[in-house]
Amino acid sequence: MRVSINEIKEMKQKGEKITMLTAYDYSTAKIVDEVGIPLVLVGDSLGMVVLGYESTIPVTMAEMLHHTKTVVRGTKHAMVIGDMPFMTYHVTTEDAMRNAARFIQEAGAQAIKLEGGVTVAEKVKRIVECGIPVMGHLGLTPQSILQFGGYKIQGRTPEVAQKLLEDARALEQAGVFAIVLETVPAPLAALVTQKISVPTIGIGAGPGCDGQVQVIHDILGWFTDFVPKHTKQYAKLHDVMSTAIAEYYKDVKAGSFPTEKQSFTMDESILARLK
Ligand code: KIV
Repeated sequence: MRVSINEIKEMKQKGEKITMLTAYDYSTAKIVDEVGIPLVLVGDSLGMVVLGYESTIPVTMAEMLHHTKTVVRGTKHAMVIGDMPFMTYHVTTEDAMRNAARFIQEAGAQAIKLEGGVTVAEKVKRIVECGIPVMGHLGLTPQSILQFGGYKIQGRTPEVAQKLLEDARALEQAGVFAIVLETVPAPLAALVTQKISVPTIGIGAGPGCDGQVQVIHDILGWFTDFVPKHTKQYAKLHDVMSTAIAEYYKDVKAGSFPTEKQSFTMDESILARLK
């Protein structure tokens, strides 16, 4: 059985920390699932760390569904959360419901995530009423970077801090099972966490959240175009991969790969009979 939204909500009540990590492909998802991470997010960060876009804005439904399917195939236990791309839930409630349903019905995800608070609350309510678990996302919501003027910390002024709290309450009322808080001051994230009943999952929001999420390429030191302040590199995968690929390159050039060990034999008399 996969992790359910009730188990995630219970973790908050018990004071048990919740771990969430992104994955975008079968092989990586398999490792994340084997480790026991309960929440796997197929984030639209896919656009930057896998597809090479400058932001998450160009990511499409087709790309998200394709990668979500691979992550679902790679996991047995984790809840897989599909991230709704830019403008797939903004225009109409019907659009939002249909696109959310595609993650569940076509890609096999168990939940969806979308960005925004009060402005998307009605859409969240309608999606939840259809039986689709929804995770909210507040703070530095990357699909709004053009509006924010860049990747800037959110919530340092009284107005923005108050709005964050109101957005969190609106999402809670609308029926989300958890809320991501991205790049907000740690004391504000801790306060929001105390004031709402659903779990908060922080990224750059300090230790006071109920859980934490990171982009897997960041914690593995795999994506090195930039390293966010909020991440911790548990490995230097870029360097490990670069060294291995350079060795392969050198071996092929030198004729030292492949050897007999990596080759297949056959009855040589067959060769002799070839015309
Ligand atoms: O797209 C993503 O990976 C995300 C997380 C950073 C929360 O939204």
